[in-house]
Amino acid sequence: ALYGETHRPQIHFSPAENWINDPTGLVHYNGRYHLFYQHNPSDKIWGNMHWGHAVSTDLIHWEHRPVALRASPEGLGYIFSGSAVVDWNNSSGFQTGDHPPIVAIFTHSSRDNHQVQSLAYSLNGGDVWQMYRGNPVLDNPGIADFRDPKVIWDKARNQWVMVLAAHDMIKFYRSDNLINWEYCSDFGQDVGSHGGVWECPDLFPLDLPDAGGQKWILIVSLNPGAPNGGSGTQYFIGDFDGRSFHCDLPETLWMDYGPDNYAGVTWSDVPEQDGRRILIGWMNNWQYANALPTSPWRGAMTLPRELRLIRTDAGLRLSCAPLAELATLRRGNPITHRNVLIDEAYDLGNGAALGELLDISLQMDWPQQEAHDWSMHFLNGDDEELTLNFDMRSGQLCVDRTKASFRIGDVASFSSEIIAPIEIGGETSIGLRMIKDTSSLEIYLEDGRGLLTLNYFVESRLDRLEMRSGRDGHPIKLKAASINALTGIWD
Ligand code: FRU
Repeated sequence: ALYGETHRPQIHFSPAENWINDPTGLVHYNGRYHLFYQHNPSDKIWGNMHWGHAVSTDLIHWEHRPVALRASPEGLGYIFSGSAVVDWNNSSGFQTGDHPPIVAIFTHSSRDNHQVQSLAYSLNGGDVWQMYRGNPVLDNPGIADFRDPKVIWDKARNQWVMVLAAHDMIKFYRSDNLINWEYCSDFGQDVGSHGGVWECPDLFPLDLPDAGGQKWILIVSLNPGAPNGGSGTQYFIGDFDGRSFHCDLPETLWMDYGPDNYAGVTWSDVPEQDGRRILIGWMNNWQYANALPTSPWRGAMTLPRELRLIRTDAGLRLSCAPLAELATLRRGNPITHRNVLIDEAYDLGNGAALGELLDISLQMDWPQQEAHDWSMHFLNGDDEELTLNFDMRSGQLCVDRTKASFRIGDVASFSSEIIAPIEIGGETSIGLRMIKDTSSLEIYLEDGRGLLTLNYFVESRLDRLEMRSGRDGHPIKLKAASINALTGIWD
């Protein structure tokens, strides 16, 4: 089958061949969602950075396109991460034909790592790209890590705004034409996590959950320094006045406690009648990204996710949920379970009846005071296993993939403990959603919180799913389970 190699993601995007890292230049135009990505077209390791390209009309199925932006052998050689916007009013003056220009703003890096910001544009709706002759448009002020420009249209003030990662701070700029940029402000002093370099920022407004008003979200990826080691993504909730960002809370909020969701950014120019804020991340971690045991490609994206603001006991939080479109991949009737009291081990599905690609919804209950923990086991007869331990008393999910680390088991960071807090206040029930691919698992709380994304690698298929009651010996109630098999996106 096409893209049927061992470990090849079947519901997540991956390049046909070679290396991939960050998603970049995410833009919608004329019914097509463009996904550009950091790509080495000549090897399975990082280097020789180009912008690879794919398009989708439904954010589920992807069509590979030729490389859009090429590294050049000399001078400003590498094309690093950035963003793209539709320049509807031709503020840049690049337009020649019927289509508004689509303008990409990206970091141009020399081989000795001198980083500046440059432009490229497409005049035919995103298929053919050319470099702007006046590059770079933003010079380096003497900061080694100065990259990943995300440009947005600031509707309220009729201006372009750029957020840029500068070592472990974010710099804000403004422009009328995407070519001349004026420095506005710095963000990051005394807030957030500074355990590593800040990368790939994004800035956008979201509606408040209880109607009336909006808040601005600033997303900042960080490497290393994530809660479970290596690469991770923090976010800030606050206000933006056109020149600077002020956050409401000084504490660090994490988008995903899993080890494999990095450099996520959102699509520009999603049609207003749709109105969703949609993010996709690189499903990987710099700790071991160059060692994933796959061929002829290396790396993949997370599923696209809808971002929303929700109100929790602890205050406003960002939630990330799979897109409704994912349901179009469901096939056949789901395996269902209802009102099962689990006091030892319970078989949720096995053999051929349990598909390899799964969309699982679970409702758990622990009416008795003492019963508060349980575990889930994706396993096979070859002693391979992915284990999820839920403990509602301490409010955490602990994932063990040490027995699902085929050919990467020697990379210590891949086998370390993965822990996510689950804050559900005084509740005694929980809804969970899990999306399982050939080599990844995404776990969401019902309301989109507590998200955990991880890769795993097994030699033979995990063809059993078991639930076990916890260490305290008290039964736990599986109120409802629905296990849907999915069709692969390349089928
Ligand atoms: C993040 C990153 C970006 C940079 C790109 C280079 O993963 O380090 O900061 O633009 O990768 O490939």
